[in-house]
Amino acid sequence: MTALEPTTRTSTDFIKVRIRRQDGPGKKPYWELHQLPYEPELNVISVLQKIAAQATTSDGKKVAPVTWDCGCLEEVCGACTMVINGKVRQSCSALVDRLLEDNPDELVLEPMRKFPVLRDLMVDRQRLFRALERVEAWVPVDGYYDMGPGERQSREDQERNYPLSQCMSCGCCVDACPQYLKAEVARLDGESDEAYEKRKFAEYDAAFVGPHAISQAMLFNNNPTGKSLAGERLDALSGPGGIQACGNAQNCVAVCPKEIPLTTSIARAGRATTLHAIKKWFG
Ligand code: SF4
Ligand code: SF4
Ligand code: FES
Repeated sequence: MTALEPTTRTSTDFIKVRIRRQDGPGKKPYWELHQLPYEPELNVISVLQKIAAQATTSDGKKVAPVTWDCGCLEEVCGACTMVINGKVRQSCSALVDRLLEDNPDELVLEPMRKFPVLRDLMVDRQRLFRALERVEAWVPVDGYYDMGPGERQSREDQERNYPLSQCMSCGCCVDACPQYLKAEVARLDGESDEAYEKRKFAEYDAAFVGPHAISQAMLFNNNPTGKSLAGERLDALSGPGGIQACGNAQNCVAVCPKEIPLTTSIARAGRATTLHAIKKWFG
């Protein structure tokens, strides 16, 4: 098919989709070309559903259906994040007509670059969630009995906290961050689940925690109940892989789909960890 303007496409035209596939963890990736009849108003998830259903490449070879992850289909869960035409983003909100305006020849789909690939476009984002555990990104309450309403937040705090609370742990920010290097820990022969997890977490915990976790630490440190763990969070951010690992390149803030002010959070975390260290120094 020759390159066509999206507005001039009809159902007799085809959309070419180039997909970077991988048959399992640690396996060699390879490219595969698929094509499907053009339909208006598709998103990338609906394209993937059609490609999985036909399970045949553009040159007629039968192949295993492509694997990807998704959940909410409305840019809330972050599970469908992948690299689309070179840009990390959610595939449920990526509109094909818009993508074809930028590149009329084909769509190019790749898995995120900083997480281990499980299969095709599906990655293991466990390190992202482990980072939230490292900084204790929660409000410490025991929910077995009614403790009444929490302390009221000032309007100023609400306005500061709300944008940060929109993080959906999609991983776009860490994908774009030059300081966040891929950590892939292969399972050893005969290794138990427990031993493998311990080894994997030790590697994750020594690496950069990531801008999303720094921002969540700032969110919960500014919560009237959450701030009871402020010292622990600042200790975590002061340690290996913490705030000092950030090179301030600001790629993270440019790609966050929720427009979370990550560099503002990073600057706040920098000031808070310095103050925390001085306070500790003077007992
Ligand atoms: S500002 Fe820090 S966290 Fe954000 S992309 Fe740059 S190095 Fe990564
Ligand atoms: S900070 Fe933004 S880019 Fe990073 S995980 Fe949260 S929503 Fe995604
Ligand atoms: S499926 Fe949940 S963000 Fe796309």
